[in-house]
Amino acid sequence: MFNSLRWKISTIASRVMLRRGGARLGKNVRFLGLPIVSGKLAAITLGDRVVLTSDPKGTALGVRCATLLRVLGPSGHISIGADTGVSGATICSAAGVTIGERCLIGADVKIFDTDFHNHEPEGRRYANPDWAAISRPVVIEDDVFIGTNSIISKGAHIGRGSIIAAGSIVTGAIPPMSIAAGSPAKVVRTLAASSA
Ligand SMILES: CC(C)(COP(=O)(O)OP(=O)(O)OC[C@H]1O[C@@H](n2cnc3c(N)ncnc32)[C@H](O)[C@@H]1OP(=O)(O)O)[C@@H](O)C(=O)NCCC(=O)NCCS
Repeated sequence: MFNSLRWKISTIASRVMLRRGGARLGKNVRFLGLPIVSGKLAAITLGDRVVLTSDPKGTALGVRCATLLRVLGPSGHISIGADTGVSGATICSAAGVTIGERCLIGADVKIFDTDFHNHEPEGRRYANPDWAAISRPVVIEDDVFIGTNSIISKGAHIGRGSIIAAGSIVTGAIPPMSIAAGSPAKVVRTLAASSA
């Protein structure tokens, strides 16, 4: 009762904040706790019924921090498809993070399409990042399930229906309908296609 009231309030406040910044929100997007959002909010799209959880009470495993959406540089954008749930994930984009429909993004996952800092040591600390040089888009296709504490880094492309095991690090392509685990994540098993 108390939680549902708090989540109604966080949903209303977050919708207002994001829409004022120009973000595109579908129908019935819900925010369980207040997310952290920054950068060009107009580059954020959340599909119908997306749920962003930032409250530890909002998910079975709990979350250690609020869901964070950060758009960086001139080309960053974040798109989350309909019916996807995100639990305390950090999502940062300088090149483009595209997440499909019906995905499950487990507690405390990190998804980022950039290295944030230039590779050359000269000026790495203080120079403006050369976003184009240090960023590659991330694509997570429909129906992907990402286990808790995984890291999905620049250039990753996870195929439809796949599962990323808890604590994995994905740096490249994972084929559709597979279970991938470890660092860097490798396919450990193929999932049977549903007969439906
Ligand atoms: C990926 C997962 C679904 C696989 O479950 P499963 O089908 O029962 O698979 P198994 O436990 O039989 O493991 C299959 C192989 O992957 C390996 N594996 C499983 N999880 C792994 C992990 N997190 N890291 C590394 N290897 C892993 C197993 O050791 C096994 O390897 P082997 O075939 O060489 O023995 C499960 O391990 C997992 O990570 N679930 C995520 C749960 C989660 O984070 N939920 C989010 C809540 S917010």
